[in-house]
Amino acid sequence: MLLSGNLLYFLPFYSLFLQKHGNRLQVHLEKSYFLRLPKFLPHAIDDLFMPEFFVDSVNHWFGDREILSNVYINCKSGEVVGLLGRNGCGKSTLLKIIFGSIIPKFKYLKIDEKIYQKGYLSKNLTYLPQNNLVPGHISVSTAVDLLCKRYKPQLLEMEIVRKFLQVKFRELSGGEQRYLEVLLCMYSDSRFVLLDEPFSQLAPIVVEEIKWHINQLKTDKGFILTDHNFQSLLDVADRTVLLHNGCNYTIRNREDLILHGYLPAAKD
Ligand SMILES: Nc1ncnc2c1ncn2[C@@H]1O[C@H](COP(=O)(O)OP(=O)(O)O)[C@@H](O)[C@H]1O
Ligand SMILES: [Mg+2]
Repeated sequence: MLLSGNLLYFLPFYSLFLQKHGNRLQVHLEKSYFLRLPKFLPHAIDDLFMPEFFVDSVNHWFGDREILSNVYINCKSGEVVGLLGRNGCGKSTLLKIIFGSIIPKFKYLKIDEKIYQKGYLSKNLTYLPQNNLVPGHISVSTAVDLLCKRYKPQLLEMEIVRKFLQVKFRELSGGEQRYLEVLLCMYSDSRFVLLDEPFSQLAPIVVEEIKWHINQLKTDKGFILTDHNFQSLLDVADRTVLLHNGCNYTIRNREDLILHGYLPAAKD
């Protein structure tokens, strides 16, 4: 089956279809060490392997415009990495390159010590795109079954999930859809989660809830998230990376954000 462009976002749904029809994908999933971890052991095993992914030397052009010239970003299980940058600097492009829905001119991607051309092939990477993830005709209950086997009990304890279980995504408000998509990605079976603007369209109280969930989950997972609600992003991130002029910069404090032109300098 040919999957390209935005269709890649729906990969988990195609995966379910394939599994239902006896495809070997299920065997792949069961072989993944993450799913086979005994529930009481993950931290002991983390100490030995410290799951990590990194992407290095990312170079991408759209036509004759170089969007990313030499970018490196990494994420370990147990940490939250905030990715900041002005509009159009290439944040979404970078996340798509890591996930595998954009093929750049060059990149070197390693997940758990293995090189991948497309991150989703690791079966250990979930990506929330800036736009919608779940097709409108899918019900919340189906989406939970597709993406969240390991954490399904925790999801079903949440009121927002329980009350909409039998509802299709197209019948939800924009904000309800977004909140549920963020929850589905955070509580997915993957070890690593990429969230592109998870706080946008959401009420402040919901943003606080998402931050709480990330803090709960990060003992078992690594997150990279981008958002223009930079205060919320800084609150939840263990470290912050700024994309600027096609390169990545480590951000240590607010002054660094001013220095690199992300925040305006205070007027005298
Ligand atoms: N499919 C595309 N074709 C051509 N240019 C694109 C495409 N997608 C994004 N761009 C351009 O690449 C730049 C980076 O886009 P994007 O990664 O979406 O930025 P960000 O997420 O940081 O706001 C922008 O200037 C945008 O116009
Ligand atoms: Mg973007």
